Formats: sequence, C-alpha cells, structure tokens
Amino acid sequence: MKDLQSIKQRFGIIGNYSGLNRAIDIAVQVAPTDLSVLITGESGTGKEVFPQIIHQFSARKHGQYIAVNCGAIPEGTIDSELFGHEKGSFTGATENRKGYFEVADGGTIFLDEVAELPLSTQVRLLRVLETGEFIRVGSSKVHKTNVRVIAASNTDVVMAIERDKFREDLFYRLNTVPIKIPALNERGDDIFLLFRKFAVDFAEKYRMPAIRLSNEAKNILMNYSWPGNVRQLKNITEQISIIESEREINVETLRAYLPDYTGVKLPAIIKKEDEKSFSSEREILYKILFDMKGDMNDLKKLVFDLIQRGEIDINFHEDNSGVIKNLFREARNEKKVASVSDNTASDFSTLHGRTDIQDTEEVFEESLSLAGKEVEMIKKALEKYNGKRKLAARELGISERTLYRKIKEYEIEM
Ligand SMILES: Nc1ncnc2c1ncn2[C@@H]1O[C@H](COP(=O)(O)OP(=O)(O)OP(=O)(O)O)[C@@H](O)[C@H]1O
Ligand SMILES: [Mg+2]
Repeated sequence: MKDLQSIKQRFGIIGNYSGLNRAIDIAVQVAPTDLSVLITGESGTGKEVFPQIIHQFSARKHGQYIAVNCGAIPEGTIDSELFGHEKGSFTGATENRKGYFEVADGGTIFLDEVAELPLSTQVRLLRVLETGEFIRVGSSKVHKTNVRVIAASNTDVVMAIERDKFREDLFYRLNTVPIKIPALNERGDDIFLLFRKFAVDFAEKYRMPAIRLSNEAKNILMNYSWPGNVRQLKNITEQISIIESEREINVETLRAYLPDYTGVKLPAIIKKEDEKSFSSEREILYKILFDMKGDMNDLKKLVFDLIQRGEIDINFHEDNSGVIKNLFREARNEKKVASVSDNTASDFSTLHGRTDIQDTEEVFEESLSLAGKEVEMIKKALEKYNGKRKLAARELGISERTLYRKIKEYEIEM
C-alpha cells in the first residue's frame, strides 16, 4: 500500500481521523481501475482533492484531467461544453468544437456538483459511461472516447432523485465506488490540527506571528458544529489572523467569529450513525419545505396578478378579507425566517387599496427593502471576489446558477 503520510503531504491534506484515512485509502485502491467514483460529503469537507489523487495514481496520469463544475455552466451550453458541437448547430456556433469528453480521451473528467446536471445532459452522460459513445450537439455522428469519470456532490443528489431531477440509473452508474468524506465536526483532534496549519500558513502569507488559542477557546473550537466544515474553519482562521491584533485568541474573541454558536453543545464530538442520518434527513425536509414555500409564493403572486388584471373576480366580503389578512401576516413572517425575496406582499398592498387591510404599508416597505438588501448583498459579494461568481455564490450560500438568475433578474451590472 502507498504510504498514507506521503500522500497527505503531497496533496496538502491535514488530519488523521480514521474516516479521512479510509477515504484516501479507497481513492488510492480504486485509482488504477477505470471504475466510476462518486464522492459525497457536506460542503467544504475537502472533496476536490480526491479526484486528483485518483487521477495521479492511475495509468491515466499523463492524460488530461478536466474538472467541470456542473452547477456553474448555464443549461443552454452544458451539452456543447461536455460533448462538443458542430458548426451552425445553434446561433454562435461558428466553428466545430470539441467537448471535454473528446478532449479528455485517455484521461479523467471530474464532474463537480453533478446533481446540478439537467436531465437531458444526464441521458448523454449515461450513454458515454455505458458505451463510451457520444454525439456532438447538432451532429448525428457517433464518436468514441475513453474517459474515467469521477463525480462529486453534497447530499442533494439523493434529494434530486426523489424529486425526479436526477436519474436513478445514472446515480448507480456513477456510484460504482462511493467515497464519503466525513464532516469536520466528526474529526475530533483534526479540527485543532487544521486550525494550527491554517494559522501558520496565514501568518506566513501576511507576515505576522501566528494566532494561538487559549485553552478555553480551543475547547470551543473543538466542540463547534462547523456547518461550513474545513472551508469555514479556514475562512475564520484567516479572518482572525488579519483582524485581531492580539495574537492569543480568547473565548470571547473566537465566539464572535462563530455564527450560531449556542454555547451549550455537549463535549461529545463524535456523532452516532443514526444521528447523522437523522440530521441529513432533516436537512432534506428543510430543503423540500423551502422549495414548497417558493412554489406557494409563486402561486400567490400569480393569483394576485390575475386579480389585479381583473381576470378573477373576487368579492371582498368579510370572509375573504380575513383570509387575505392571514396571507399578509404569513408573507411577512416568512420574510423574517428566510430572506427569500418575492413581490407577493407588494402585490397585496397595491390591491384595490382596501381600507380593511390595515398593515398594507408596512408589508409593502418591508418587501421593497428586502429586495434591495438582496441586490446589495449580491453586489457586495461580487465586488469582494472581483466578479468571480463561483466565489460570490459560495459566500452568499446560493448556487452559481441561482446567482446568475438573480443577476439577470435584478439587472445587476458588473
Ligand atoms: N483535510 C484538509 N486539509 C487541508 N485543507 C483542507 C482539507 N480539507 C479541505 N481543505 C481545504 O478546505 C477548502 C474547502 O475544500 P473543497 O473546496 O475541496 O471543499 P468541497 O468539499 O469541494 O466543498 P463544496 O461541496 O462546497 O464544493 C479548500 O481550501 C481545501 O483546500
Ligand atoms: Mg467543491
């Protein structure tokens, strides 16, 4: 077996947690084969290095390695990016173009955020996985390629299958060898190892002494839930390194950098299996609820648009006004829970100028300022990352495609 320590060194992986070691071990074992690998793990757990390990330890290492962020490519062009197109197949296709699957012949393709692939692309992907065959967009000629596919996703691929957004057969095909990257809060002492490494790295980068933690602060670091995993730990270490002039970091200082710190977490760091699956199930339920809420808001908007345009005749007798008032309250409360912006409330308010709806003004203003806030946040994030959408989206906690849509929707200039 290859020496684990030297692999970690070579790829800059910090940590000794058994689950992490196991993931590296599987990557090395599976590397010489051509099996598809699906890497799963929460956001920020360090998935991106694994396909590189697999490629480097395979016979394909002298071939191309292409990493594709499936969530970042607009739906309209993704087939052409992956499989190429023929001249004239769509407006703007002025030349024949090879896709990644053609370019990476003999090499490896890493499909990051694979759950974001549109269904039509999934069909093409399944075919190339099963037969090595693909067709360029706008062509009927079948090409052959020999590509190793490695995919990655956070837990949402399971949810996508349940919602018929991801093909189950493709999932099984990709998931021939699963590699699960453990969440940071499972990794015990690794949390501190990572902190120290990052502290030293940033000290070097910014030419200042490395930050240290008081014993109490260390305790908190070890027991925090780390929803953003290693990425969050790295970001926080960088922020503290830059902002704090005192190099010994105490509890109060550290807490200020940890969002949602409750201070009552039990010292047990290692979760039991069933707890974990419960939390991911809960996550899925939350997501479904949020989606449903979005659908509801769309429906409300539609109904009120129809009323406004006089296409539905509603008489506001006693009963109806009660319902409408409730909807108001709901819309307003929802906005406090999540900053999903919509125009529902303002549509309510402009409705017939009813006097029996008292809280109209308030709702109207709140909705406007929320949309404004969102634009402001998006602009700030884009500015911070010099217009790099991937990084901005990550900071905002939305997918790149959603960001793209919002930029268009709000006509944000960049
Ligand atoms: N074990 C580790 N040792 C050192 N650095 C790590 C480790 N794991 C992750 N990192 C660093 O944490 C950051 C996040 O990792 P990465 O981008 O691979 O996350 P990810 O799992 O792909 O997340 P996402 O699903 O959001 O894309 C990177 O800067 C990476 O270098
Ligand atoms: Mg990633």
